[in-house]
Amino acid sequence: MNAHAKARPIIEIRGATKLYGGAPAIDGVDFSLLPGEVHALMGENGAGKSTLAKSMAGVVELTSGRMAIDGTQVQPRSPRDALHLGVAMVFQETSLVPTSTVAQNLYLGRERFFNRLRGTNTAAQQVLQSLNFDVDPTALVSQLGAAKKQMVEIARAVLHDAKVIIFDEPTATLTPEEKEYFFKLVKNLKSRGVAIVFITHALEDALAISDRITVLRDARHVVTDEASKFDLERIVKAMVGRDLSQTLYGTRRQTTRAPGERVLSVHGLCVSGIVRHNSFSVFAGQVTGVFGLVGAGRTETFKVVSGVVKRDFLHGGTILFKDRPVRYRVPTQAIGDGIAYVTEDRKVEGFFETMTPAANIYVGHLAKLRGRRTWISAREEAEIARQWTQRLNVKAVSQEARVAELSGGNQQKVVIARSLAQEPDLIIFDEPTRGVDVGAIAEIHQLIHRLADAGKAVVVISSYLPEVLALSDRILVMRQGKVAEEFSGIEATEEKIMYAAVH
Ligand SMILES: Nc1ncnc2c1ncn2[C@@H]1O[C@H](COP(=O)(O)OP(=O)(O)OP(=O)(O)O)[C@@H](O)[C@H]1O
Ligand SMILES: [Mg+2]
Repeated sequence: MNAHAKARPIIEIRGATKLYGGAPAIDGVDFSLLPGEVHALMGENGAGKSTLAKSMAGVVELTSGRMAIDGTQVQPRSPRDALHLGVAMVFQETSLVPTSTVAQNLYLGRERFFNRLRGTNTAAQQVLQSLNFDVDPTALVSQLGAAKKQMVEIARAVLHDAKVIIFDEPTATLTPEEKEYFFKLVKNLKSRGVAIVFITHALEDALAISDRITVLRDARHVVTDEASKFDLERIVKAMVGRDLSQTLYGTRRQTTRAPGERVLSVHGLCVSGIVRHNSFSVFAGQVTGVFGLVGAGRTETFKVVSGVVKRDFLHGGTILFKDRPVRYRVPTQAIGDGIAYVTEDRKVEGFFETMTPAANIYVGHLAKLRGRRTWISAREEAEIARQWTQRLNVKAVSQEARVAELSGGNQQKVVIARSLAQEPDLIIFDEPTRGVDVGAIAEIHQLIHRLADAGKAVVVISSYLPEVLALSDRILVMRQGKVAEEFSGIEATEEKIMYAAVH
């Protein structure tokens, strides 16, 4: 018997139910967390993982059910409350203050310990360094990429000496190296007796680092067992309630599509010191995969191409779209020309949170018609939204649900749907399946293949090598601000790509 089994749970939850407008996000869920264990929480998009986690972290108040921490009945009413009880949560959607610096975010609520800004910066620097995180404490959070934002969140939780740390999809944005580092960090926390709840869609990660695994499905508890008693198939079956025979990321490409017309060509692009003399082309009828470590300049390059980053940051180089030089000031100009950028950071750039998914998707459709039409049609909105929500299987508790009320993975699907409703010729996906469940990954991958088959130029920025290999006809590897190497989808291997990204 596992030594854990005898220990008293640090968190014990019985019959946890949370209703939204009468519909359950979680329904009578039991959950326990043992001291020093890593407990993976798994399930499809919308299964209730974040809701259960947020109830422990004081963000969501349960409709009914009981929770005890260290044997004492509690009901944390705010994240601050939960932190007092020793529970910290690293959120799926970043909770950092974008207009403050990294250091200010780390010490939020503790500023009185420092009489000068310099003191905060120095202390923050020490914490970040001790965790081996390469983040500038004086940088504004709004300037950080998704991965670095997450590092700040992790540092903040570590800093608060929590005995329970809940991670909601911490590895989704990380490169393989950073992920290895995160795993070490988890082991380190564990050895200090910290118990960890680890929400993830990466089955291999759950198997690799957790002691126990709990699976939720449709708001209900399905199973909790030792990780050693699971394999991939058992987890997937518990998640989806049936056997899923296809492999997660599809297989390696056996053939590649031939390049069509040159849709995009970039020469000597320089962006704020991050992108340095970057040159490459993208062709119609192909998927061009773009791989690189965090900081290689992938996102920055394509944000400038699509007008998401202001052209003021562009310090040189030319961008030709369909042989015409372009420099967009705002994304709507790029959209009007037929370029769509599907963001990796849905919270910040993704959409209008207080609108319904249907309205968001329709906005995408209208953006394409910019200037050519002024009327809107409720029936058309409903029809277009229906098509896309069906194709991407967007799930919400009700038709009227606002985007902010959707689960993380379903929000990601709405972002994709809205961009595709723009009917672009060049579509740039930045980490398209981040936070998306097993079934939906397959759907999104099929969709990407279909776009390329239909003659669109598709760019997929991804930090996950199996994804890059499964999708790409060509693979561009970026290193230190420019494309350093190119592979065909057939000749590429994980080792070759990784080597090119690092050396
Ligand atoms: N504030 C809210 N208002 C209304 N419904 C909500 C709210 N928060 C969550 N829900 C609904 O509760 C269900 C569970 O959501 P939750 O975020 O817990 O899922 P999840 O398992 O974390 O999914 P994902 O893997 O996509 O992050 C979803 O159907 C979601 O739409
Ligand atoms: Mg979630």
